[in-house]
Amino acid sequence: MSNNHPNTAAEEDRTANFYITESYKTIRTNLQFSLAAAEDKKVTAVTSYEPNAGKSITTANVAITMAQTGAHVLLIDGDMRNASQHKIFGVTNTNGLSKLLSGLSKPDDTSFFRSVRPNLDLLPAGPIPPNPSELLCSKNMKKLLDALREAYDFIFVDCPPVGVISDTLSLLSNAPNVVIVVRQRQTRHDDIKHSIEKIRAVGGVLLGVVITDVADSDSIFGGRYGRYGKYGKYGKYGKYGRYGKYDKYSAYAKSGEMHYIGSSQANTQPEVK
Ligand SMILES: Nc1ncnc2c1ncn2[C@@H]1O[C@H](COP(=O)(O)OP(=O)(O)O)[C@@H](O)[C@H]1O
Ligand SMILES: [Mg+2]
Repeated sequence: MSNNHPNTAAEEDRTANFYITESYKTIRTNLQFSLAAAEDKKVTAVTSYEPNAGKSITTANVAITMAQTGAHVLLIDGDMRNASQHKIFGVTNTNGLSKLLSGLSKPDDTSFFRSVRPNLDLLPAGPIPPNPSELLCSKNMKKLLDALREAYDFIFVDCPPVGVISDTLSLLSNAPNVVIVVRQRQTRHDDIKHSIEKIRAVGGVLLGVVITDVADSDSIFGGRYGRYGKYGKYGKYGKYGRYGKYDKYSAYAKSGEMHYIGSSQANTQPEVK
C-alpha cells in the first residue's frame, strides 16, 4: 500500500504547515471567545516572562489569522527596545509607535500604518526612544489607542518580556488584556507564576496562555496527529522523548489560574494560509 511509503519532504512540509496553520486558527478561536467575554474587546497585549519565547512570531501569526476572518486588524510593535515586526513583515522602522507617542508625529499620520496583509495593518515600533516604559503608560498612548479602537476591530500589541522590563506592565494601564506566551522546555513554572503576579498587581486581565515550541510527540497534541505519520524534520525533538512533565503547563491552565488558549510548533514565517 502506498501509505506504507515514507513521506516525501514536500509532503512532510505540507502536513507540517497544515498543522501549524490549524494551531494558530485554534488560538484565534479561543481568543475570540476570551475577548468576547472581556471588558475590553479589542486590544490584546502579548508578552512572556523571558526573551525568545516566541511572542513576536505568535503575535504576527495570530494577527494574520484574525485578519483572515475579514476583521480589520492592527498589529502594534510595542517592543520599542527590541523591535521585530518590521523585520518579520519586511517594512522599514523609520516611522512607528515611538514617534507617535513622543509627539514627534501626528497620530493621524496614516503613513505610519503599513498595510502588510489584506485587512491587516502594522504600526512598527519606530526608533528606540529613551523612555519606552513612560511612553506606554502615557496620556498619548491612551489617546492613540482610543482613536485606534474606533478604526479597528482587533488590536494586538507585541510586548517586551515582563520578567525583564516593566514596559508591558506600563501598557496595561491603557490596555489591560494580556496573553502570556510560554515556551516549552524554556519557561519555568516560577516564571509563569511571577508573570501572573506582576500582571495582576497592576490590574491586568489574563486572557490566557499560548505554549510555543511544542514538539509533535508532546502529550499536549494528544494522539490526534499520529495519523499524519512521522515528521522527519521535527526529528530533533526526538531526543527529548515524551513530555509527560510538561503536562504541568496544562495543569496550570486547568487549575483556573489561566485559560489555555493553544499551542504551536516551530514556525519562523508569518504565513498562515
Ligand atoms: N511556536 C513556535 N515554535 C517554535 N519556535 C518558535 C515559535 N514561535 C517562534 N519561534 C522561534 O523562536 C525564536 C524567538 O521568537 P520570537 O517571536 O522572536 O520571540 P520573542 O518575541 O518572544 O523574543 C525565533 O527563532 C522564532 O522563529
Ligand atoms: Mg519579540
